[in-house]
Amino acid sequence: MKALVYKGPGDKAVEDRPVPDVKDRGEAIVKISKTTICGTDLHILKGDVPTCSPGRVLGHEGTGVVEKVGAGVATFRAGDHVLISCISACGRCEYCRRGMYSHCTTGGWILGNEIDGTQAEYVRIPHADTSLYRIPEEVDEEALVMLSDILPTGFECGVLNGKVVPGSTIAIVGAGPIGLAALLTAQFYAPAEIIMIDLDDNRLETARRFGATKTINAVGDKAAEAVMKLTGGRGVDTAIEAVGVPASFLTCEDIIAPGGTIANVGVHGIKVDLHLERLWSQNITITTRLVDTVTTPMLLKTVAAHKIDPTKLITHRFKLDRILDAYDTFSRAAETRALKVIIEA
Ligand SMILES: NC(=O)c1ccc[n+]([C@@H]2O[C@H](COP(=O)([O-])OP(=O)(O)OC[C@H]3O[C@@H](n4cnc5c(N)ncnc54)[C@H](O)[C@@H]3O)[C@@H](O)[C@H]2O)c1
Ligand SMILES: [Zn+2]
Ligand SMILES: [Zn+2]
Repeated sequence: MKALVYKGPGDKAVEDRPVPDVKDRGEAIVKISKTTICGTDLHILKGDVPTCSPGRVLGHEGTGVVEKVGAGVATFRAGDHVLISCISACGRCEYCRRGMYSHCTTGGWILGNEIDGTQAEYVRIPHADTSLYRIPEEVDEEALVMLSDILPTGFECGVLNGKVVPGSTIAIVGAGPIGLAALLTAQFYAPAEIIMIDLDDNRLETARRFGATKTINAVGDKAAEAVMKLTGGRGVDTAIEAVGVPASFLTCEDIIAPGGTIANVGVHGIKVDLHLERLWSQNITITTRLVDTVTTPMLLKTVAAHKIDPTKLITHRFKLDRILDAYDTFSRAAETRALKVIIEA
């Protein structure tokens, strides 16, 4: 089969690989129909993710059809149409029992990281019963690719952790796929104001179409000032950090209102200053989270019922044999206006 392989920092290639087989009772082999590329794959290619070794097939998102299951798989069989979660979960360990699938002792985010991933014709899925979701007949498959990672991430790490409530004022720093997923799912809770902040005017324009009430270009470190002006000097009840650099987290610290919540979503590679000399008296909460994908069944129902339309995030489509072009387009997002690219196997 064809697969996109990480060859070490700055290097990747399409290679021929043997089709994987089940090694454990709980595993399934899925024939990929559609997959995509995540910002995190670009982090891996930069060499930022030490757990991912050269030789690894990348990808942790996608949909497909079950090809084969191990003897211990109870809920799926060959021919089932499934959504693959970016998080593999045993469902039995202490963390899984607490709903913290991301910290599963024999799973978590391993797909396309510690084990071969979905940017291939076939993938081996561990703990298949609790890491795959059945796809309802009538739901658009491309919409569901957005449910493997970005929708649960924006919703769980941003909206739920950020305690968005009706009538509240929220700011989302970063209008990439994750920030936009937070924007779409925040609207379940009818916040009064959603201020979207980015450096890219195209993405801000998209955010306005997706329901942002105000947008701010963060160029020249003036974002915080602009937010304070828009909120009459009060700041925001929820600040969602969806970039992963010190500047964007500092913006959140500068705009959080008394009693507010800063919900960090971004993956940080270097340390960030925490200004407790200002914030100690402000009754704020700071949260962090690796997406657990516990809300995937709920989000699936909202997509099936057309309460949200994640296909709005899809900007480009490629066949698997052109995945290098897909990477090129995705990594030059500012020029190509790429958000999510669909790759068809
Ligand atoms: N916590 C989790 O479980 C989890 C899961 C998936 C992704 N992530 C992380 O979420 C983050 C966002 O992912 P993405 O795919 O949307 O990334 P992305 O790179 O596509 O988007 C980031 C956006 O931030 C903007 N930006 C850069 N600096 C800024 C600044 N100072 N102020 C405002 N905006 C700024 C960029 O223009 C870009 O549009 C990444 O760090 C990613 O690794 C976290
Ligand atoms: Zn991802
Ligand atoms: Zn577990």
